[in-house]
Amino acid sequence: MKLIQPLNPSPQIDVDSLELISHSPEQTQRLGVRIGELALPGDIFLLTGGLGTGKTCLTQGIAWGLNIEEYAFSPSFVIVRELYGRLPLYHIDLYRLDHIEEIEELGLDDYLYGNGVCVVEWAEKGLSVLPREHLLIQISYLSDTERSFQLKPSGKHYLEILAQLKTFSFKS
Ligand SMILES: Nc1ncnc2c1ncn2[C@@H]1O[C@H](COP(=O)(O)OP(=O)(O)OP(=O)(O)O)[C@@H](O)[C@H]1O
Ligand SMILES: [Mg+2]
Repeated sequence: MKLIQPLNPSPQIDVDSLELISHSPEQTQRLGVRIGELALPGDIFLLTGGLGTGKTCLTQGIAWGLNIEEYAFSPSFVIVRELYGRLPLYHIDLYRLDHIEEIEELGLDDYLYGNGVCVVEWAEKGLSVLPREHLLIQISYLSDTERSFQLKPSGKHYLEILAQLKTFSFKS
């Protein structure tokens, strides 16, 4: 008889996670606002998902939650955009980068390990060189107007943010 070994869960992965379904760009922005309100200096939010899933839309909300008046346009030609509100927001977009070395050469450490809030679009391109402690936000396209947001914390601080977001409701 063959014994099937159970797979040990990796100790680095926090099992706690949260899924929220947004039904409109406005709801996605509202989630972003809540995340921006909860953000503390040095926070890292890593956004993944395909083209046009709503990463920039969520970032706009995060900017508003940090009392940034300016609209967080998709930084199409710049990789890092600095915006200033209650805290600095470093909006990083790795879309144009294809190799991990290119990301390392950018010298993002001052942003990633500074006192601002970093939001990284296309974080899947650089997960191995981005801070190990972060809130991962995986966005999936469900329909024209619906998106799923899977929030996965790594590290105690992000578990606390997740706990606060568990009471979040899209209705204001
Ligand atoms: N529930 C929703 N949440 C967010 N965006 C939505 C939603 N429903 C429809 N949309 C639309 O999806 C698009 C999202 O665009 P956005 O620029 O935020 O995506 P992105 O993930 O940043 O794309 P890219 O990969 O090009 O950077 C917008 O046109 C927005 O109106
Ligand atoms: Mg974008």
